[in-house]
Amino acid sequence: MSRYPILTAEEAASLIQHDDNIGFSGFTPAGAAKAIPKAIAARARVEHAAGRPFKIGIATGASTGDSLDGELARADAVKWRTPYQSNKDMRKGINEGRIHFFDMHLSQVPQYVDYGFLGRFNWAIVEATEVTPDGKIIPTTSVGASPTFLRYADKILIEVNAAHPKSLRGIHDIYTLGRIPNRREIPIYKANDRIGEEFIRVDPYKIAGIVYTNLPDESGGFDPIDETTRKIGENVAKFLVGEMAMGRIPSEFLPIQSGVGNIANAVLSSLSENPEIPPFMMYSEVIQDSVIAAMKSGGITFASGTSLTISPAIQKEVYDNFDFFRSKFLLRPQELSNNPEVARRLGVVSVNTALETDIFGNVNSTHVLGKDIMNGIGGSGDFTRSAFISIFTCPSVAKGGKISTIVPTCSHNDHSEHSVQILITENGIADLRAKSPGERARAIVENCSHPEYRDALHSFFNSVKGGQTPQTLGRAFRMHEQYAATGDMRGVHFD
Ligand code: COA
Repeated sequence: MSRYPILTAEEAASLIQHDDNIGFSGFTPAGAAKAIPKAIAARARVEHAAGRPFKIGIATGASTGDSLDGELARADAVKWRTPYQSNKDMRKGINEGRIHFFDMHLSQVPQYVDYGFLGRFNWAIVEATEVTPDGKIIPTTSVGASPTFLRYADKILIEVNAAHPKSLRGIHDIYTLGRIPNRREIPIYKANDRIGEEFIRVDPYKIAGIVYTNLPDESGGFDPIDETTRKIGENVAKFLVGEMAMGRIPSEFLPIQSGVGNIANAVLSSLSENPEIPPFMMYSEVIQDSVIAAMKSGGITFASGTSLTISPAIQKEVYDNFDFFRSKFLLRPQELSNNPEVARRLGVVSVNTALETDIFGNVNSTHVLGKDIMNGIGGSGDFTRSAFISIFTCPSVAKGGKISTIVPTCSHNDHSEHSVQILITENGIADLRAKSPGERARAIVENCSHPEYRDALHSFFNSVKGGQTPQTLGRAFRMHEQYAATGDMRGVHFD
């Protein structure tokens, strides 16, 4: 018999009030709360129909599934949202100005919550495989910021989800950072060092109820690798093999951090299949499909992350063969998985994806035409700034060639030229280390840009006289302006 009240999702949702702030589990759709947010959305619709206001503030680990971000956005039930999202309806609400979204480095979310930067949290709503009578919670496929939400929120609701096996107990590594100013170093010296407990401890008296569910993670899977993503992956592998040959990367290799999305998934696949790259570990945030394939082939020996974001078929394979996979990964709170201190100590090689990059090496990961948010910065800043080598990849063009991803000046900046070391597209590699802005511009345009845009980009900086950076303010956004006016950057000129 559970010591906690057993509730339906609707009963749980009835406890939530207009204006409440809620910390939900979920880092990507993996491990995200599902039944209660959906029921809260239904409650919001009823309240709105009765002419009453009903909106909540939402913090999560990162993006979540459609039952959380999609349902609540469509029900117009979101007052504010942080730190990352990738749902089309949430994105629409943000870009239409109905939802206040603030984009945050994911490693900082727990500290922001802990120290009250985000205000009071009325609820933590998390998914678990199990809750013990003395308040030990075993998460499902992600940890994210849940330990902090659970510690800090006034009350707790838990979805105990039977879709995940109880054998997941043991893959989580829960550790709490000390309070500032008495915080010590995080004792992770190798990617596979376990430093914490298998469960999150909470005050059992804060648990207002448990909702039993049997709902799969809402992870969609990835696009198949195509010619462009294959070439990008091969170029990343070629660059890293070259660094090894020069003795800059040790022969046992370094831990890899890999970003989210189709391109990152393809890059990782290329790295792990390259015969010149030894089997390696990951110190990353999201463990995607390609990591699982590489674990089976022996290309990846271990992955530290905060979420297991894998498509349904791959998840079944992992659960069916859990004895093989159990020792191959650890899921930690995001303030550990993404911690700059650990990334710098381990010598992580970060590989993230840009939406656009400028010819000086500044990177925009988040905004289209400087205005509309795509997803958010995620963990890319946590890793890029602290990596031993920071790499950004992207195809040289988007939208069938109508957009050059390499532009004179980024329309929004997430990663500055001071943090971005290597840029890689399907066309080649630009090593930006120890180069002046003018040298960087030449390397990026010659090695990485699409041939269709190369002459125009050359003409942008060749005509500039003097200055340390070959920039012209009046023409900086000409490519973006042309795209906004005509839907196509091709044919742009800087005369
Ligand atoms: N302008 C406008 N749209 C662009 C663009 C540009 N310069 N470059 C790419 N896009 C569009 C693509 O066309 C595609 O849209 P579509 O699906 O409507 O065709 C979309 O962006 C995604 O691009 P895709 O090529 O499928 O890449 P992806 O799935 O690898 O995602 C990012 C790329 C940048 C959106 C994604 O990696 C991201 O959100 N990154 C930021 C967070 C991050 O790095 N997290 C990892 C840290 S651990």
